[in-house]
Amino acid sequence: MRAEFDGVTALRDVSLSIDEGEFFTLVGPSGCGKTTMLRSIAGLTDEAEGRVAIDGRDVTSAPPEARNVGMVFQNYALFPHMSVHENVAYGLRFHDLDGRTDDERVAELLDLVDLAGVADRSPEQLSGGQQQRIALARALAPEPDVLLLDEPLSALDARLRKRLRVQIKTIQQELDITTVYVTHDQAEALALSDRVAVMQDGRVEQVAAPESVYRNPASRFVAEFVGDNNLFDGTVTDDGAGVAVDGAALPLPAGSDRRPSESVTLAVRPEVIEIDDGAASADTTLAATVETVEFLGDAYRVHCRWRGRRIECKSTASAPPAGEVTLGFDADDAQVL
Ligand SMILES: Nc1ncnc2c1ncn2[C@@H]1O[C@H](COP(=O)(O)OP(=O)(O)OP(=O)(O)O)[C@@H](O)[C@H]1O
Ligand SMILES: [Mg+2]
Repeated sequence: MRAEFDGVTALRDVSLSIDEGEFFTLVGPSGCGKTTMLRSIAGLTDEAEGRVAIDGRDVTSAPPEARNVGMVFQNYALFPHMSVHENVAYGLRFHDLDGRTDDERVAELLDLVDLAGVADRSPEQLSGGQQQRIALARALAPEPDVLLLDEPLSALDARLRKRLRVQIKTIQQELDITTVYVTHDQAEALALSDRVAVMQDGRVEQVAAPESVYRNPASRFVAEFVGDNNLFDGTVTDDGAGVAVDGAALPLPAGSDRRPSESVTLAVRPEVIEIDDGAASADTTLAATVETVEFLGDAYRVHCRWRGRRIECKSTASAPPAGEVTLGFDADDAQVL
């Protein structure tokens, strides 16, 4: 898929294949092309060039209503002058229910999103979270083959986002519906998805299961965008076994297979770095100074400085570390980019 708007390239040769029943997420920073990709699947972008097939059926030239996709948009898109019931029933306008009445189907859907009691209300009498659940019910009404969700939770507060994302996942699993979810929130993407496509600047940088994206990021961008990471840029030492960073040699993971003097980035997650006691047995130790400590509830985030550079670690000790500390990690817990 390619898309260009008056000289702005929104998608550069993006090719994705999504499995039946999969929860697939497009994640990336603002402007990277997520909405354009979703709208291309739905047939809502004239500027998109490429081919879309759903369930083996080529729908490239089919209008949106013939593609059998349901979509929930970023901003609440309920019709304000219609009741909840009418909003959900609107989703049925092109749909043949074989036997069931619209009323039965609407009741079924309101049950599904756990809002059976609000059918006669108008959207303005609902909270933001309830409105998005109604928007979801409306999108699901015609029994679409594919559900497209464009940042459905972005207007909600953090607590509600977490609660609703579990509900979306539960409904997705219950219906076993192929879902493409868009978010700029990497934590949300990791929490919900079977697979994640990390996008940047109209391109897909990596497509993989959340665990692989987190543990084996394919690029520097992915390593920085997904989760927290410490990145050490340097050059491979003459013996090929380490990377020279600010006058120190940090060992490379076994089997890295890098040439001497090649430029590489070593990525080390905060949670694999031990502080003081645990650091003694690690194969890489660094003498650092604690600068700031944040209490996270179940752990401390410890911001240190080592040779002029910041290093972020996580400590689950009962009291936070302070002053001069030894940081340690095993080379095999780091990734080379
Ligand atoms: N209708 C349009 N006209 C002109 N430019 C557009 C249009 N739609 C998108 N673009 C441009 O295409 C690029 C990708 O936009 P898109 O909306 O797909 O990004 P996004 O990843 O969804 O961002 P966000 O997270 O902010 O919603 C941006 O540079 C945007 O300005
Ligand atoms: Mg968008």
